[in-house]
Amino acid sequence: MTQTFQEPEASPALLLLGQRTDPVSERGVDCPGDLPEPSDPHLVERARKAKEALGDRVFILGHHYQRDEVIQFADVTGDSFKLARDAADRPDAEFIVFCGVHFMAESADILTSDDQAVILPDMAAGCSMADMAGISQVEDAWAQLDEVGVASRTVPITYMNSTAAIKAFCGRHEGAVCTSSNAEVALRWAFDQVGGIDGDGKVLFMPDQHLGRNTAVLQLGLSLDDCVVWDPRKPLGGNTAEQLDAARVILWKGHCSVHGRFRKANVDTLRENVPDINILVHPECTHEVVTNADYVGSTEYIIKALDAAEPGSAWGIGTELNLVRRLANAHPDKQVHFLEDTVCFCSTMNRIDLPHLVWTLESLLAGEVPNRIVVDKTTQEQARVALDRMLALPAAQPEKD
Ligand code: 13P
Ligand code: SF4
Repeated sequence: MTQTFQEPEASPALLLLGQRTDPVSERGVDCPGDLPEPSDPHLVERARKAKEALGDRVFILGHHYQRDEVIQFADVTGDSFKLARDAADRPDAEFIVFCGVHFMAESADILTSDDQAVILPDMAAGCSMADMAGISQVEDAWAQLDEVGVASRTVPITYMNSTAAIKAFCGRHEGAVCTSSNAEVALRWAFDQVGGIDGDGKVLFMPDQHLGRNTAVLQLGLSLDDCVVWDPRKPLGGNTAEQLDAARVILWKGHCSVHGRFRKANVDTLRENVPDINILVHPECTHEVVTNADYVGSTEYIIKALDAAEPGSAWGIGTELNLVRRLANAHPDKQVHFLEDTVCFCSTMNRIDLPHLVWTLESLLAGEVPNRIVVDKTTQEQARVALDRMLALPAAQPEKD
């Protein structure tokens, strides 16, 4: 069968975002060392040599959305949750090089020992969704919920894609962490803590309103009217005290800048052009996109779905482009289409490139530990409570359409 995957048109601004650190970006972090030139023809060889010389002292983790040039050096690949566990399973590795984004490296630091250094090759690799819930905003929201008599009936749940400070907040307030593959189990657990799904208890879901809404409505059977959005820039999040009292799920006003780009029109176009296409999307997509898709699931689910798909079947996939391109290359016997018609990389994930990886590995070899991610002790302990509550949840049922 001929290859059907078509690279979307490149938007110059998005491609540029992935190339180098941007001193005027939200984090504004310059690389503290001498980065090799991206044009250096020996980069692959340099990375290979440095990794080989470091041997078992270094363990490289690669998130599914990383560039091919980086993924080729990963000891393991996975979603954010799997990678945090993989890091915890390597207590002998002195250096954990996390090719992902800041919140993932924080989680790895929480789950590994103090003797291990977790390193993020580019400190500007943040996550715009995680940055949408600042700890002072969340503390302020909780105080307001307390004033209107709602906080005592509310369990905070935070998506893995949040800062360590937000995870610690959930640890302090009897809440838990969840991932895109166990959000349903986590929400059911949360409601059980406050009188069950049929009671009047609530969940404060952070920071991704779409994952929260999709899970509450499509998996727990709540209605859209049971959900309110909390906008941190408005008093009471833009709600009345009565609306908060009646709500079952309070959704933090955050979203993923990658998955939020997909539109129902993209689904319609693919359905018109490709007969019998299966639309498969990540639950960070909007409710409208998810309800118009055939299948919805986490990154790991998307990979497994393609592995299990019939030869000749057609798939329109709504998640990050690096992953979709790799899936298309891995399944030449299936038709793999990207759901969007313009480039949809995660620009912050893309900041980790081969020059940063080479610089990191060569620095380690020279006895320097660059870009170490350290979560303070108290935050670690409290965040660990919320992570352990998640780990104690019953295993999630396989995701389905
Ligand atoms: P997972 O890593 O849990 O699949 O989440 C997707 C994502 O957006 C990662 O930042
Ligand atoms: Fe954050 Fe979305 Fe990028 Fe994941 S894909 S790191 S959620 S901006």
